[in-house]
Amino acid sequence: MIDQATIDRIMDAARIEEVVGDYITLKKRGANYTACCPFHNEKTPSFSVSPVRGIFKCFGCGKAGNAVTFVMAHENITYWEALKVVGKKYGIEVKERALSPEEQQHNNDRESMMITAAYAQDYFSKILHNHVDGKNIGMAYFAERGFTKATIDRYQLGYCLDSRAAFSSTALRDGYKKEFLLKTGLSFERDNGELADRFFGRVIFPIHSVSGRVIGFGGRTLKTDKAAAKYVNSPESEIYHKSSTLYGIYFAKKAMMKHDKCFLVEGYTDVISMHQAGIDNVVASSGTSLTHDQVRLIKRFTPNVTVLYDGDAAGIKASLRGIDMLLEEGLNVKTLLLPDGEDPDSFARSRSATELAEFIGSHEEDFISFKAKILLADSKSDPVKRAEVITDIVRSISVIPEAIPRSVYIRECGKLMDIGEDVLTGEVAKLRRKKLYDDAREAPKPAATPAPVGDEAAKEAALHTPPIPAFVENVFCREQEREIIYLLLRFGNHAFFDVRVSAYIIGEIVGEDLSFQNLEYRQIFEEYQALLDASDTVDIRHFINHADQRVCELTIDLLSPKYTLSKIWGHPETFDPDEERLQVEVPKAINVYKSKIVTQAIIRLQATLEGKSGEELDALLLKLGELSLVRKKLSEMLARPVF
Ligand code: CTP
Ligand code: MN
Repeated sequence: MIDQATIDRIMDAARIEEVVGDYITLKKRGANYTACCPFHNEKTPSFSVSPVRGIFKCFGCGKAGNAVTFVMAHENITYWEALKVVGKKYGIEVKERALSPEEQQHNNDRESMMITAAYAQDYFSKILHNHVDGKNIGMAYFAERGFTKATIDRYQLGYCLDSRAAFSSTALRDGYKKEFLLKTGLSFERDNGELADRFFGRVIFPIHSVSGRVIGFGGRTLKTDKAAAKYVNSPESEIYHKSSTLYGIYFAKKAMMKHDKCFLVEGYTDVISMHQAGIDNVVASSGTSLTHDQVRLIKRFTPNVTVLYDGDAAGIKASLRGIDMLLEEGLNVKTLLLPDGEDPDSFARSRSATELAEFIGSHEEDFISFKAKILLADSKSDPVKRAEVITDIVRSISVIPEAIPRSVYIRECGKLMDIGEDVLTGEVAKLRRKKLYDDAREAPKPAATPAPVGDEAAKEAALHTPPIPAFVENVFCREQEREIIYLLLRFGNHAFFDVRVSAYIIGEIVGEDLSFQNLEYRQIFEEYQALLDASDTVDIRHFINHADQRVCELTIDLLSPKYTLSKIWGHPETFDPDEERLQVEVPKAINVYKSKIVTQAIIRLQATLEGKSGEELDALLLKLGELSLVRKKLSEMLARPVF
C-alpha cells in the first residue's frame, strides 16, 4: 500500500509530457504534443498531450487520462504499480509495508510472474559472476564472443548451471511459488512431480519489456553438437508474448527516437554486438518474420527502419515478402546488405564504430529498389519471370499508404525495370482500388435486425446506423482534391481579399458546378459548406471530433506536420502564411484542379470522336475546341503547361 501523501507528491512531480515521452515519440505542436496513438493502430497521429492540463487524449480511440493512468494502460499494470514507476522516475521513494498473506493473494498473477522472472534474472547473473562454473563456462563463452563487462551488465546476461534443477530448487527455497515457476516456463514439472530447469547448461539472454522489466529468456546452448536446439526460449505466457516483443527495445528506444531510425536484425547476438560497436538503435525480431504488433512497437519510436541482411543470399528472398508489411504500416524501409559470409554480429565485431557507420552510410539502399534488383537479376532473359517480378514490385508499392512516397517509388522502379511511369501508376492504382473494395466487402456488416413491426420497432430500426459506403478513389485528381481540402481545413478562416479563403474556395468549386470525385473529400467539402452557411467561420474541431472515424483521421492527417506539401510551403510547422502568399497559392491550387478536370473531359471527348461524321462530329469538335480554349486560358493563368 502507498500512503496518500506519497501519491500526492508523485502526482505533483509528474510531468505528463516527460512520462509519456518515455514511451513514445512526442512532437511539439504549439502548446501541446502529438504522436501516433499507442493504444490503437493508426497511421496518422491523433494522440495529443497537454502539459498545461496534465492529460493525454486520443481523438482516434477516445482514450484519455493522466501520467499514471497512461503508464498503467501502456504497461498493462495496476494503478499502484504505475504509481511506483512514475515515482521512481522522479526519485520519490515509495515506502511499502510488507504485504500480509491476504494482500499477497491479491497480488495478481502477472505481477507474481514478473517478480519471479526478475528473481531468475538476478540468480542467473549471480551464477555467471560468482559461481565457479558460471565464471569458467558462461563467462568464458561471452569473453570468447568479445562481449565486454559493460555489455554483459547492461543486458543482464547470465548462466544457468548444467544440472537438472539447481535453479528451481534454489527458487523454491527462496520462497518462490511452484505455480509461477511453471507459469513463466522457467521450470517444468517432471512425471514424479519434481521441478526441472528449462535453461540448464545454457547462457542466458533476458528479454525485457519496453519499460525494462524482464519478461522472458533466451538460453543458448554451449554445446556444438547439432542435436541440441541452439536456443531455448521462454514459452508464451501472461507476461511474455513473443509476437509483440522485440529483443533490445528497452535499450534501443531512446536512441531510436534520437536518431529517428532503427536497425532491424535477427537475433540476440546481433543486437548486442551492434550495440557494443556503438550503434544502439537496434532491435531483433528473434529469428521469426515480423508481426503487426512488432511493427507497431517500432512505430511508436520512429517510422524509419533499416533491415540488415546477412551476406549470404539464401535467406533474403524468403524474407522479402515480410517486409511489405513494414511498408503497409507506413514505415520508410531501407536495407543494408552485409558483405558475403558476414552477419550483423560478426560484422560489427570486426569493425570500428567509424568503419561501421561509414559502411552503413554508403551501402544503405531503399527497399523497393533493392528488391527489384534482387528479383530482376534472376529474370534477365525470361519474359514471364520478368512480368512476375514487375507484378510483385507493383504490389509492394501499392501497399504504401502515402501518395507521395508511392509516386517516388513508381518513378524509381520505372527506371530500374525500364517501364513507363504511367503504366506503373495505372497498375498501382488498380491494386489499390481492388484492395479498397475488398476491405469494404470484408468490413463487418451491422447485425441484421428483425423486420420492424409497428411504430416502436420502426423507431428502433431507425436508430441503427445505415452501412457507410466505402470511400471511392479517383486517382486522376485525387492529389488536387486533397490539396484543396487541405487549404480549406488549414487556412479556411484566413482573410482573403475581402472574403475568407473558405468562401473563395467554395465559390470557385460550386460556381463551376464541380463536385469532388473522391468521396471522403466530397463529404468534408459539403459539410464545410453547410457549416459556412450557418456561420462566418468554421471550427475545425467539427472535423477533428467527427463521428465518422475516417473523416476525423483524414482531418488530423491533413493538419499534421507530416502532410507537408513541402513543394509549396516549405516548413509547415513554422509556416504561418501571409495574405499575399495565400492569394497566390489558393487560386493556383484551384486552377490546377480545374485543369485536371478539363483535361479529363478532353480525353473522354476525344475517345467519342471515332466513327462520328457530319453534324454530330462538328458539334463534338466545337465542344472540344471550347474545352481546349478553357485549358489554354487556365494554363496561361498558371503560367505553366497543363498536362
Ligand atoms: N532462434 C531461436 N531458436 C533457434 C534458433 C534461433 O529462437 N533454435 C532465434 C534467436 O532469437 C536467435 C535468432 O533466432 O538470436 C537468430 O538465430 P541465429 O542466427 O541462429 O542465432 P544467433 O543469435 O546469431 O546466435 P550465434 O551467433 O550464437 O550463432
Ligand atoms: Mn550469429
